Amino acid sequence: MENRNNKRPLRIALTKGRLEKDTVALLEKIGYDCTAVHEKGRRLILPVGDDMEVVLAKAADVITYVENGVCDLGVVGKDTIMEQNGKFFELLDLRFGRCRFALAGKKGDNFYEGSHIRTIATKYPNIARAFFEKKNMDVDIVKIEGSVELAPLLGLSHAIVDIVETGTTLKENGLEVFEFICPISARLIANTVSLKLRREEIEKLLGEIERELEK
Ligand code: PRP
Repeated sequence: MENRNNKRPLRIALTKGRLEKDTVALLEKIGYDCTAVHEKGRRLILPVGDDMEVVLAKAADVITYVENGVCDLGVVGKDTIMEQNGKFFELLDLRFGRCRFALAGKKGDNFYEGSHIRTIATKYPNIARAFFEKKNMDVDIVKIEGSVELAPLLGLSHAIVDIVETGTTLKENGLEVFEFICPISARLIANTVSLKLRREEIEKLLGEIERELEK
């Protein structure tokens, strides 16, 4: 589909789920018509306003699409950016999707006691590895795909490195934070070539978003 400038619309990849909803709410506040996104059904590419379209993808894939330039912009959590890295430009902290990375485990456990090698379960092995490397601690890391809290409960690991938002999941499963690692929030990322070739459009949108966030 081409817009009135004979170019494809500016394409933004959104992380499906909460970040998608928060981004759509932000675009609507700015004045973009997001009706198609609300009525998407199972469609994955939706027009927003006259000259933009959103692509709905999994977090890690948002980075892949932006890196490869098939999407100009992306909205993805800092957690995914830290875990995956990649060649793209991080334009803006969108200030939503706020949570924290934490080391957590069974309530009352003294994680740092003793000199045995600890096993850490996580969806984020690179982040966990970097965290323990800084501490000069040798750990075994087990990659888990979701509900990481199960690992210490079932005796698979001594602790987890995971995202904590409200803390409810930890609390309701008899776990607690041992140490906070770093804050996380949603970021607007851009393809490096798009930043040059579609600079005006991107700067316009960036300005609109920044002004809205300042309100
Ligand atoms: C995330 C995270 C925790 C939970 C934290 O899981 O991995 O499990 O949310 O939120 P809380 O502090 O508000 O309880 P998610 O819902 O993404 O599911 P997953 O565990 O299957 O990845």
